[in-house]
Amino acid sequence: MSRALENPNLISLAAGFVDGATLPQSGVQQALAAVFEDPRSGSAALQYGSTPGYHVLREILRDRMIEADRLQDAVGLDQIVVTAGSNQMLHLVSETLLEPGDIVLCASPTYFVYMGLLAAIEARAVGVASDDQGMIPEALDDQFRRIEAAGELGRVKAIYLVPYFDNPAGVTMSLERRLAVVEAAKRWSRHTTIHVISDEAYRELRYQGDDIPSPRSCDETGETVVVAGTFSKSFSPGIRVGWGVLPRHLVAPVCDLKGNVDFGSPNFTQHLMARVFQQNLFDPHVARLRQSYHCKLMAMLNAADEFLAPLDGVHWFRPSGGLYVWLQLPPRIETGLGSRLFEMAIREGVLYVPGEYCYPMHGEPLCRNMIRLSFGVQSCEKIREGVEMLARAIAAVGD
Ligand SMILES: Cc1ncc(COP(=O)(O)O)c(C=O)c1O
Repeated sequence: MSRALENPNLISLAAGFVDGATLPQSGVQQALAAVFEDPRSGSAALQYGSTPGYHVLREILRDRMIEADRLQDAVGLDQIVVTAGSNQMLHLVSETLLEPGDIVLCASPTYFVYMGLLAAIEARAVGVASDDQGMIPEALDDQFRRIEAAGELGRVKAIYLVPYFDNPAGVTMSLERRLAVVEAAKRWSRHTTIHVISDEAYRELRYQGDDIPSPRSCDETGETVVVAGTFSKSFSPGIRVGWGVLPRHLVAPVCDLKGNVDFGSPNFTQHLMARVFQQNLFDPHVARLRQSYHCKLMAMLNAADEFLAPLDGVHWFRPSGGLYVWLQLPPRIETGLGSRLFEMAIREGVLYVPGEYCYPMHGEPLCRNMIRLSFGVQSCEKIREGVEMLARAIAAVGD
């Protein structure tokens, strides 16, 4: 990102930012006016909030989840905790569940920021093979067996999933796999409860096909799955409102930790988001976003068909949502910082995320020939230009 900022002409297909042009400026103005329409609601929004968050927003979140996942009212309001972005929820849950040396099983590849968070609390991310439907349940069982044979089953505390349009690979887990992973977590919980952390950051950014119920819907008792949600991708990352849906036994420890850290997440933006829903501004906004991102995704896939397809050994996954396209180059072409390709790409004028950052330290082997491209920020023209530049760089180093 700092290299992109140094050179304003560089086309960054790296950062996973959302599109500035579709940020909901008028919707936020309207919701803001509604917050201050009545002095009582204005002063409530400007006052301290509570640790679990604004109850009106939590009710909205709970009702929407029950409807989307057909949960039959199985989620209590006390199980919904609002955080400053979903990253805070990932952090609080991980701090609560993990001791140094504990293991979290992650798809290989997976969201690199979460692995950074695990490293910071000295937990181990162990990779599980994944394909175009995400984490492979048979590979998960194999990994459990290996860990058990090494006498470490008691150290496995969680399985981390990004089940919708994963960052970086863009893949979505089928319902069968969601069921299989939740079932495996329960089956292998012999020494301690193994939770499934379902990071649903991209759930709303679907451009084709129908929504798939959350892994939470596969957890009948509600004791295994933790959901982390966010408005960062579907509305605005600057508003910093995320949330968790927690198993009952985690509510008190997570809220205790949270209360010590932040005294409650920003109350003002929670009131704002509640108004966004009450004024029916959210769903129409998401519908507009989907259209706009769908065009950008198609611009990237069309450019890939045009410029990358002729190159030997270059493959990519065609996602139906999210913000990323994941590219595989021939094994001989490394993509990391300082690699010939990275330098050549910068010289051409395009920036990408080297895929090697997205692999857990343990478990599956790391691949050095992968690239994450992001289509969220650039215009369709720039996306096409950037992919063309990348193709020239790959051709130059591949010769
Ligand atoms: C998979 C995933 N989870 C969580 C987040 C963090 O989002 P938030 O802004 O809600 O903290 C991101 C942001 O890019 C993400 O890609």
